[in-house]
Amino acid sequence: MNYRAVATCLFGLEKVVEFELKRLGIDVISVSDGRVSFEGTKTDIARANINCSTAERILIVLDEFDASDFDSLFDKTGEVVWGDIISEKDSFPVKGYSINSTLTSVPACQRIIKKSIAERLKRDLGVRSLPENGRRKIAIRFSIVSDRVTLMVDTSGEGLHKRGYRPNIYGAPIKETLAAGISDFARIGQNSTVTDPFCGTGTLIIESALRANRIAPGLNRHFAAESYPFIGKGAFDFARKEARENIVRNSKFTAVGTDIDPKAIEHARFNAKAAKVDEFVKFEVMDARKYIPSKDMIVVTNPPYGEKLMDPVSSGKLIGEFCENFFKYDFKGLYLISGQPDFEDIAGKKAKRRRKLYNGMIVCQLYMYF
Ligand SMILES: C[S@@+](CC[C@H](N)C(=O)[O-])C[C@H]1O[C@@H](n2cnc3c(N)ncnc32)[C@H](O)[C@@H]1O
Repeated sequence: MNYRAVATCLFGLEKVVEFELKRLGIDVISVSDGRVSFEGTKTDIARANINCSTAERILIVLDEFDASDFDSLFDKTGEVVWGDIISEKDSFPVKGYSINSTLTSVPACQRIIKKSIAERLKRDLGVRSLPENGRRKIAIRFSIVSDRVTLMVDTSGEGLHKRGYRPNIYGAPIKETLAAGISDFARIGQNSTVTDPFCGTGTLIIESALRANRIAPGLNRHFAAESYPFIGKGAFDFARKEARENIVRNSKFTAVGTDIDPKAIEHARFNAKAAKVDEFVKFEVMDARKYIPSKDMIVVTNPPYGEKLMDPVSSGKLIGEFCENFFKYDFKGLYLISGQPDFEDIAGKKAKRRRKLYNGMIVCQLYMYF
């Protein structure tokens, strides 16, 4: 059976997700802001969850219809055979959003959809009531865009950025999916030499190592759909086995992360070990203002800026000092993400390419020099 599904992602990473899905042999149908739609079997759903380093979640589309009032939202939601998806032992939280639509109240839409599912479920399952707190959670998602409703079921569980290697948050770490996207823009591969002079807890270095060695980021975690009867553990076990076979052996990839904060370096070393990439990477304490690249090096980095670790004046000064020294030397590529609005003026050099990306709620640019 083929499912219609959506891979959600951070704005700016849609093309990277599309490419990742296509590399898995999955048929992409369309790409829009923060969403890549595709079609595939249950194994493809498992493959996408395990392998996609830049997707946030994989959702199966259950139905799509137009609704501009609560009655039609209720009636059309009830046309889905919910008894095929949810059992009487499950809980089914409903979450979603509405953009440019007549139905603007998200909490009200949430309530209507939940009520309609419950009514239909009782009929499908032949029961008079449903338990308040079912043991298994089957998360239902909806989107309403220009009065078009899409009902979906989440297959990922925890967001896909949770790889399992970063148990403790320290400082201002970049999201794993964004770091993976940056390493994709930097075209990091099995022969690359990579450095990050502001490495913090090592995310950009670790994601680069995973990408270079084709280690699927979801190999060591669990997914919600493993316990869904209509997808199941078998599909995930198969996709995991396949992903393990795809890991590059004998890669020449090496990476070094440096940071001025010894505590951050401790976290980076721990995380790299947990991600099982410690054989490829090293972390050392160093001031980035003294950093000297070499001509074969790809530098991926995320210096502190304004809103997060430093005030904008101090971060601007640091970036200026770093760039003044850095641009004296040859290097293969610099891919630097920053929210500093006047970055190129401070750096004293225009980037060859730029890409708007979101680091949490902060609008950033990825400045690409190569
Ligand atoms: C935005 S954080 C990087 C977060 C990192 N990408 C991660 O995922 O954890 C910026 C880092 O720059 C470091 N830093 C600040 N001043 C520095 C300097 N002069 N030299 C090297 N690192 C510095 C901070 O300690 C912090 O870890």
